[in-house]
Amino acid sequence: EMSLEKIGIDKIGFYTPEFYLDLADLAQARAVDPNKFKIGIGQDEQAVLPLDQDVVTMAANASAPILAPKDRSEIDLIIFASESGIDQSKAGALYLQRLLGLNQSARAFEIKEACYGATAGLQMAYDHLAAHPDSQKVLVVAADVARYGLETAGEVTQGAGAVSMLVTRAPRILALSQPTAYFSEEIMDFWRPNYSDTAFAEGKYSTEQYLRFLEIVWHDYQQKTKTQLTDFAALLFHIPFTKLGLKGLCQMTADADQETKARFLQVFETATIYNRQVGNIYTGSLYLSLLSLLQKGDLSAGAKLGLFSYGSGAVGEFFAGELQSNFESMSQLADVETLLAQRQKLTVAEYERLFKQTLPIDGSTLTIDPISQHAQFRLTGISGHQRQYK
Ligand code: HMG
Repeated sequence: EMSLEKIGIDKIGFYTPEFYLDLADLAQARAVDPNKFKIGIGQDEQAVLPLDQDVVTMAANASAPILAPKDRSEIDLIIFASESGIDQSKAGALYLQRLLGLNQSARAFEIKEACYGATAGLQMAYDHLAAHPDSQKVLVVAADVARYGLETAGEVTQGAGAVSMLVTRAPRILALSQPTAYFSEEIMDFWRPNYSDTAFAEGKYSTEQYLRFLEIVWHDYQQKTKTQLTDFAALLFHIPFTKLGLKGLCQMTADADQETKARFLQVFETATIYNRQVGNIYTGSLYLSLLSLLQKGDLSAGAKLGLFSYGSGAVGEFFAGELQSNFESMSQLADVETLLAQRQKLTVAEYERLFKQTLPIDGSTLTIDPISQHAQFRLTGISGHQRQYK
């Protein structure tokens, strides 16, 4: 440990849209065996983004329930991680600051490196608090919509949602450990050019790169920290779809005994319950898996978690954290069960209609009638090339 002081995640919030697609219905519509999606890909449902939500509203909807007035005035760094941002110039963090009434004596910016962005933000939040004894709180928000296109190979791995994390000293959920291990290399496994609102992926190649980066950073992590597999109570992964996380787990535990393998597998299943229902939310996926583990798992305070973050393009990082004594009650601030229970199931035809309903790309004026019934924040339209929020 570089520093004796604990710094880490004190609160976690979550938001996902009110609409979803059952992947058994998608399988039928695409003439695919439903078990390919359920078992082969490892996904059951996917969130569908309505026109009145975007990454800013999802970030605000995820953050509002967890932030007390004192948090709002003490945050002095706002990091917005996204790969589906709404502006090439202005940071989503500034909209968030206004919508949530956050402290203005704050640095606020957006960060991008595919699904790795939130991990970059989290580590930066750690460094900020370690370097500035007067700073108390940092907000790191991961918000994304994953769109590959109708009838594409990636379609089954779409999703939408946001995870919000309040990073503090004496955190009540997860204290982060240093050092971590990271690796980066310029590759073309997944990308989204400025002119496209759907991602391009070299599907199979991207899964191979994910596993290669995992091998590199896990090896490096063990060298740096003298940690062993069995020091961990759980291993968490970036989850573009649960089957790939499972492959990562199998790779890491290949030399372990059957009992160890079974233990990690059981934990992995509880850590992916929510991901199976929401789909890929890019930057937030690893942290949704953490939330799933916190709420559905049966770990105890003091348990050590290993986390693998991967962002195409590509950057990988392996890091660790230790569960704190109040993690169970603090993780309940995110009412995931209610959010999921409130969702409305779409037919494939309705999903296709929503998917094609995108904002005008010429910035023409638009009024959006409310679609989301339960969301605190909505996109109400565009006027003068400016998004209007309520
Ligand atoms: P595909 O061509 O549909 O899949 O593409 P497949 O034919 O390889 O089948 C998938 C699996 O289903 C296989 O299992 C089949 O055997 C199995 P595997 O060999 O992998 O173990 N299968 C069945 N299982 C049971 N019953 C059946 C059945 N039929 C087949 N009847 C692919 C899959 C993931 C490539 C595609 O969905 C895709 O392109 N997705 C988008 C890219 C992606 O998610 N990449 C992940 C790695 S990159 C990453 O994680 C970063 C990312 O999140 C973005 C970012 O960083 O910003 C994507």
